[in-house]
Amino acid sequence: MCGIVGYAGRGPAAAELFEGLKKLEYRGYDSAGISTCDRGEIFTAKRGGRVEELSPALKNLPGTVGIGHTRWATHGVANDINAHPHCYGKFAVVHNGIIENYAELRAELIAEGHKFASQTDSEVIVHLLDFYYDGDFSDALRLTCARLKGCWAIAALCAGFDGFAVTRHSSPVILGEGVGRFAASDIYALCGRAHSYCVLEDGDMAIVTPAGTEIFDRNMKAVRRAFEPLKEEYGDGGTDGCPHYMLKEIRQNARTMRATCDKFFSAVNAGELRLRLASADKIVLVGCGTAYNAALAAVRLLGGAYDCPVSAHIASEARYSPPRVTKKSVCIAVSQSGETADTLMAARIARDAGAYLLAVTNVGYSAITRIADKVVPVCAGAEVCVAATKSYIGQLACFHLLASLNAPDMRRESILKVADDVEKIANGGTYAEVIARLCVQSRAVFFLGRGADVDVAVEGSLKLKEVSYIFSDGYPAGELKHGTLALVDESVTSVVLICDEALAEKCVNAVEQILSRRGKVAVVTTLERTYDELKNRVDAAWLLPSVPAHLAHFVSATALQLIAYRAAVLAGRDPDKPRNLAKSVTVE
Ligand code: G6P
Repeated sequence: MCGIVGYAGRGPAAAELFEGLKKLEYRGYDSAGISTCDRGEIFTAKRGGRVEELSPALKNLPGTVGIGHTRWATHGVANDINAHPHCYGKFAVVHNGIIENYAELRAELIAEGHKFASQTDSEVIVHLLDFYYDGDFSDALRLTCARLKGCWAIAALCAGFDGFAVTRHSSPVILGEGVGRFAASDIYALCGRAHSYCVLEDGDMAIVTPAGTEIFDRNMKAVRRAFEPLKEEYGDGGTDGCPHYMLKEIRQNARTMRATCDKFFSAVNAGELRLRLASADKIVLVGCGTAYNAALAAVRLLGGAYDCPVSAHIASEARYSPPRVTKKSVCIAVSQSGETADTLMAARIARDAGAYLLAVTNVGYSAITRIADKVVPVCAGAEVCVAATKSYIGQLACFHLLASLNAPDMRRESILKVADDVEKIANGGTYAEVIARLCVQSRAVFFLGRGADVDVAVEGSLKLKEVSYIFSDGYPAGELKHGTLALVDESVTSVVLICDEALAEKCVNAVEQILSRRGKVAVVTTLERTYDELKNRVDAAWLLPSVPAHLAHFVSATALQLIAYRAAVLAGRDPDKPRNLAKSVTVE
């Protein structure tokens, strides 16, 4: 949610910062800006719109140190004025996060004679810097942060100082060293340019100049933080010949399943983890968006393998009505980025109440890994498309593996076998295209199923609405007649998932009920018999490879991801950067 970058080196800062911002665009893309410092003067260019729109202005930004920002608006519409950096007096500031007490600070500063230009919460930071500055830049930043409530990653320039300062509180900042020194909201922005990286701790402040970096902890005591080698695999590798990251990433579903299986047993002590889960009085999962939908699947998988109640909770709700946990409970925080503010907070609450905290995450250096007792790695690699695809599949693989520790019939080998089927589906697309076409011609699209198919239906619906902006909902097929049927007519498509033989007949009933109201139906099934029964009666039918019901979500979710992708393309949307959304939601 907003990306910040900093650079101090010998090369042109504007070009370096621009490259970094392009990599961070998935964190927010409604406006962008860069400030550089040269010979005691600050130069700024900022625009509403995508990072690319800054390109013509780069030539007006001299100097070899600077900061940059790509925004996801919270306070104030996306326009040139609200774009960061915010400048006042000798300072320029970029901010990722939310300043909760900004209104009161703003009033105080206005009373002191400060004039505000924007409607953002962030602008108070630059005014506070100006207010507290008496010749010592880092001291002014320390005093500024002491006044702030909320969460922040801040990078700042001070005219006349050949470098930048960066500090964090609950929002990530990574430092990089290579040909020049860098700071960024995450590691992708550093790949290809830095050879080592270091994750700043909460409360740290770094003063970065072309000559070196000094890091201070929250008490302004100089500290050493370890720099690790930055591996090439942390990069996103481009779209790999695909028109969009979303397609490339769906095509990496199978690879993610295999890599996640490979890493699991070296990453966790299976015996110890099994014991922890098997002796738990309850297992609670927390997550947001797609990660929450993956947690729904975990409820079934872990619920079948362990003899204790298992429940999934939307993290933003769990913060305020936390599931009750004890010292014998296990909390599993599910998060692709490992930085989602609500998930972090819900996980902290459970941990502080005594629960053992497991993190299922794709980012090994993220905030969630720092508070977790144990990390179960999702090995999806960089996921750039805002809509989660391969990370969901990787999370499912993790839950199968966690269940398999206590359920001998759930085997790693069976996941690997299904990975081959997933690969075939992801590389095809004809059926997805037909169903996507139905979706874009519809007023609304409903996804329904029974049993484990419901969880996939809910995720399939989220995917479609995220990237195509078509109204959509996912729900249990049995609920059709309790409300949604009132909406069904020839302008509405229902995508019916049928992947469990035991529940197929009941799902076919739902299909009949929709057809008799002249609703459009697309059936997605792993069952040949069901396919044969329905293929000539419905508007579209997609027969997926036959796999056991408890593994079917890998193939059916892949199919629904492809449908969403094709629908976005047919509707002329940018599937990688849906309007109003961002990938890493570091604000609450
Ligand atoms: C955002 C993204 C979703 C993602 C959710 C949770 O809303 O757009 O794709 O599922 O955040 O993110 P996390 O990184 O915690 O999995």
